[in-house]
Amino acid sequence: MLRLTFALVVACAVASPAVAQLDDLDRPPISYKTAQTDNVVNALQKRIRTGQAKLAFVDDHGYLPAILKELDVPRSSQVLVFSKTSFQRDRITPKTPRAIYFNDDVYVGFCLRGDVLEFSAVDTNIGTAFYTLDQSPDDKPQFDRQKDNCLSCHASTVTGGAPGHLVRSVFTDRYGMPILNAGTFRTDHTSPFKERWGGWYVTGTHGRQTHMGNWTVENKRDPEAEGNASGQNVTELKSRFTVANYLTPHSDLVALMVFEHQAEAHNRIARALVGTKQALHYEATLNKELGEAADHKWDSVKRRIESAGEALARYLLFCGEVKLEGPVAGTSEFAKEFAARGPFDRQGRSLRQFDLKTRLFKYPCSYLVYSKGFAQLPAEVKSHTLKRMHEVLTGKDTSDAFAHLSTADRTAVLEILRETLPDLPEYWKK
Ligand code: HEC
Repeated sequence: MLRLTFALVVACAVASPAVAQLDDLDRPPISYKTAQTDNVVNALQKRIRTGQAKLAFVDDHGYLPAILKELDVPRSSQVLVFSKTSFQRDRITPKTPRAIYFNDDVYVGFCLRGDVLEFSAVDTNIGTAFYTLDQSPDDKPQFDRQKDNCLSCHASTVTGGAPGHLVRSVFTDRYGMPILNAGTFRTDHTSPFKERWGGWYVTGTHGRQTHMGNWTVENKRDPEAEGNASGQNVTELKSRFTVANYLTPHSDLVALMVFEHQAEAHNRIARALVGTKQALHYEATLNKELGEAADHKWDSVKRRIESAGEALARYLLFCGEVKLEGPVAGTSEFAKEFAARGPFDRQGRSLRQFDLKTRLFKYPCSYLVYSKGFAQLPAEVKSHTLKRMHEVLTGKDTSDAFAHLSTADRTAVLEILRETLPDLPEYWKK
């Protein structure tokens, strides 16, 4: 009972569940609980079933190393969170943080001596699918698709109604308990540095910019007054907990910034998918009920789809990105490995190249345009998103929302996309 109450309190403060939205997800056209899924976890499950993949189980980390290898998730993406804000909170403390690993398609959560590994995967059918995998040795390990447990936090107003990802920053006491009445922050690429990373470990350097990472609060009444001097520019964590328990000793600052950019980008992709399917379903139902032709188009439906495309285009073009006040750097191989993945245009340019002086990336367009989640969006919303991006990049739209993009930025991104993004509409190529 206590567990449940605590879960609800955290869910409310951290994610504010919206029951109506959950009901909507369960109805057609999404039918969340019964729908077929299409994501990298169920693809791996198939490979395990047919014997093409075998997962080794090791003492300390169970299936984690094998899973990361099979899903092509780099170890260098490791970020560590010590606030008790998620599913296996009993396992999470500042001495035993939760580790999260990610790539463009999936996130993996690991707790020391945890009962399960946790997965949130970009799904081209239902937006985001959640799984757990028992951390006990088995011949043919079985991922359990989670249809309720996770959505109480992972499908809410915070994720925009669609099932999605969460990144929060909270003041955290020495046991890892969030101090909720001191305030909490959502984190994405628009978040100011000073509001980031409460409850997270952060390894990296960032000059005089300050953040809430590496901090367990003593003065619960007034954390601000206490301040977080010893949490800044931390490059190793071994004085804080036993880092040898983890795959790497890092909770890399650049990995965190990429994670935060992409979690919200994935949420907007999921919203575009779910929202468009729901709008089209509504249109079809309406036409039937009113005796209209099956292909009759409603303006309200068009507007709903276009607004999801607009929100996605803006985020992919880094609207509202916070400006760095000085150079930042991580401590692991993350940035190097990430940037090396390309794709590159003929001049050797790539959307994965970092800036890390005034902003996250050198070319302000998200690499998630290459992801399967984006590629397989319904045509209606994808074409609007690409149209809006084209208008901005060609300088036809110079409105304030895009003022952060210089003419040189726009031209560079346009050229890179023309050479590297398959299946662009014809008008992009001229
Ligand atoms: C009590 C609320 C809550 C529940 C229930 C919950 N999570 Fe989360 N989850 C969070 C929060 C908050 C974060 C952000 C990181 C953190 O604070 O640990 C998160 C982050 C994650 C991440 C990292 C990337 C992402 O998607 O945000 C994964 C993976 C994840 N959860 C999987 C799961 C799975 C699988 C379940 C169900 C078995 C689940 N979670 C249930 C709150 C929850």
